[in-house]
Order: sequence, then structure tokens, then C-alpha cells
Amino acid sequence: MTLLFISNSDDPDRWREGLGRALPDLEVRVWPEIGRAEDIRYALVWKARPGILAGLPNLELIQSLGMGVDHIFVDPELPATVPVARLIDQDLVRQMSEYVLAMALRHHRRLDEYDRIQQTGDWRRLAMPDTGATRIGILGLGEIGAPIARLFAELGFAVAGWSRTQKSIPGVESFRGAAGLSNFLARTDILVCLLPLTKVTKNILDKTAFARLPKGAYIINLARGQHVVEEDLLAAIEAGHLSGAALDVFRTEPLPKDHPFWAHPKIRITPHIAGITNPATAVAQVAENIRRVRAGHQPLNLVDRTQGY
Ligand code: GLV
Repeated sequence: MTLLFISNSDDPDRWREGLGRALPDLEVRVWPEIGRAEDIRYALVWKARPGILAGLPNLELIQSLGMGVDHIFVDPELPATVPVARLIDQDLVRQMSEYVLAMALRHHRRLDEYDRIQQTGDWRRLAMPDTGATRIGILGLGEIGAPIARLFAELGFAVAGWSRTQKSIPGVESFRGAAGLSNFLARTDILVCLLPLTKVTKNILDKTAFARLPKGAYIINLARGQHVVEEDLLAAIEAGHLSGAALDVFRTEPLPKDHPFWAHPKIRITPHIAGITNPATAVAQVAENIRRVRAGHQPLNLVDRTQGY
């Protein structure tokens, strides 16, 4: 039984070690040293080159190394019947929660403004923001969005979420579908994008969406760069309609050196670090999925191919 590890950004040795402890009879090969393609039963992948998986005739499981699986579905030759599983790791959810709280509270408590005031050596107080009147809007109330919505509700913010289907989370107003999006945006001061990237959600944050947000709204995107039409975001900030953005993901990564986001005073950039898969916590789920597939059962967090997540 052999697993093929394919990733340029995850550490194969840590995965080999962890999987070896959990499943001593599993052989782990690391792309591009694949050996006999027929041996490979499981692929553990992050951004595999299109066509690689199609060359593995006995594949029984495609396991994502991340929560998102859009990197798998971009492959036009993706084997049609092999189950694809997301990685839903609570440590990743915690990391993402920390990131959102840090960026949202930094904006809410006006810390960027205090940074600028500090440069002038002034002892000056800005008006205290009203938490109960500050409306957080979470795009995507799934495995990551729902717990983050709860955290904001516990802090006393006015929280709503938007998702494909209606959700019932105490303290969180639920909007759904195309019809609900416009009303959701109109009541959102701090917008957090945690959507999966699908045909439906690509470019969802465009000039029409930004225009629906109230003046002064702030954007936090840690989902995928393709959710945001970058020129429209820049134009909405330049026009003073949006107050700024914290972005962890971009249409092109690494963000090109000459991209206007880099030097923009109202845009805060991080290099796709909001959540980094940690083999120490995630290996158990991958091992469990291999056991399940071996036993003829469905893997955990099986992706619904028609929805794309
Ligand atoms: C990271 O971007 C992930 O999908 O886990």
C-alpha cells in the first residue's frame, strides 16, 4: 500500500514520519520519485501539476493537504470517480480564527490609526468604537466560518453570515443564496471572506458587492485571491468607499513585486499564512481516511463534486 505525497510547500519528511507511526505498513513516496505508478493507492496533495493524478491507475483516495480543494479541481484530467477529501483540521481552524480576530480587532480598535499617531509623538485619543453596533459579516458559515462567527458573537459584535444553505447558529443572523447576499452586504461593516472557491463564488467580491457595503466597510480575505476582483477593491478603497483591507490571499501568489497592493497604506498584506497545515495535528485525519478507504468506507470530509467543496 503506497501513498504519493505531492507538494512544494509542505514538509515531506514530517509527513512521512507521522504517517509511518500511524500506519507502519504504508510506503510513502514523494513526487517526483513515484516509482511504479500502479502501486500508488492514495495521493496526499497540495497543488499537484494537472495530469499527475490521471497517471495513477489504482488511485483510491485524493486527500487534500489543505482545507480548500479548488487546487485539486483545477486539474482538467482529474480522475472522475476517485473520492476527494478535504482536510478539516481543528488546529487550522484555530489559526484562521486567530488571524481573523487579529485583523478585525486591529481595525475595530483603530490600531492602524494609533500607529500613525505614534509617529507624531501625540498623546491623542480617538473615539472608542461601539462593539455592539459594529456589524461583522462572515461569507461562508462552514467548518471555519461558523466557529469564527461564534467567537465574534461572544465578544458582543452584531454578527451575520452568508452561505449557500440556511444555518442556525446562536447569535448569528443567517443569510443565504443569491437573494440574501445583497441584504447581507448592506448590513456589514467588517466583511470576512471564508468561502470555498467554486464557480459560484469566484469574483464574488466585485464592484457590485463593494457598492452594496456601507461606506467605511473593511474587507478581510483569507479564503482565495480569486474571490476578489482586485482592481475593483483598489478602486473602492481609492474612492473612499471602503476603509481598507487585510489580505492573506491573492490572484497571483507570490504577489508580484510591482502589485499596487504592496505599498498601499490602507491594505495590509500577509503571504498566505493565515492557516498552515501542521502535520503534528493533521496526520491523524489522513491516516484515518486511509484506514477507511482500505476498509471500503467513505473518507471523512468527502468533497461533494457537484458543489466543489
Ligand atoms: C489553505 O489555503 C488551505 O486551503 O488549507
